[in-house]
Amino acid sequence: MFNIHIPRYERIWLIIGGLTLAVFLVLFAVLALSMGLNPPGHHMTIDPQAVLSTAPFDNPGIQQIGFGEYNVSIVARVFMFQPDTIQVPAGSKVHFQVTSPDVVHGLLIAGTNVNMMIVPGHITQFTYTFKKPGDYLIVCNEYCGAGHQFMMGRIRVQ
Ligand code: CUA
Repeated sequence: MFNIHIPRYERIWLIIGGLTLAVFLVLFAVLALSMGLNPPGHHMTIDPQAVLSTAPFDNPGIQQIGFGEYNVSIVARVFMFQPDTIQVPAGSKVHFQVTSPDVVHGLLIAGTNVNMMIVPGHITQFTYTFKKPGDYLIVCNEYCGAGHQFMMGRIRVQ
């Protein structure tokens, strides 16, 4: 095959490296295909110019879809969240749908694991159950311009 002389230890390390790579590739394939462990969904797209005339973002807010279960749609834009205040009863399961008509924003809810990247043209979705009552601060955690630090909202869990 090759006439190049590869020292014995180098050959062993090449084999170990190759096997490690193969193991990880197989692992990722198994996780992605069988367990649905994919990067956060950006499967739903939207025309960023038409956000404000496309449901549900033409009238963003909260909508009850079942017992203790809500859809919440939010428009993240320079430099605000619309709506900026959302009230839900404690124990509510909330399905967030967020998009941006302008630039990339973030939506982080302090004290939770809700941390979404809001990219124009995409609808970012995340589900979270608010067990503890209280006021939860929403902040934008992607630098989006001069008013970035003023971009915030809250979720009031009662
Ligand atoms: Cu929006 Cu930073």
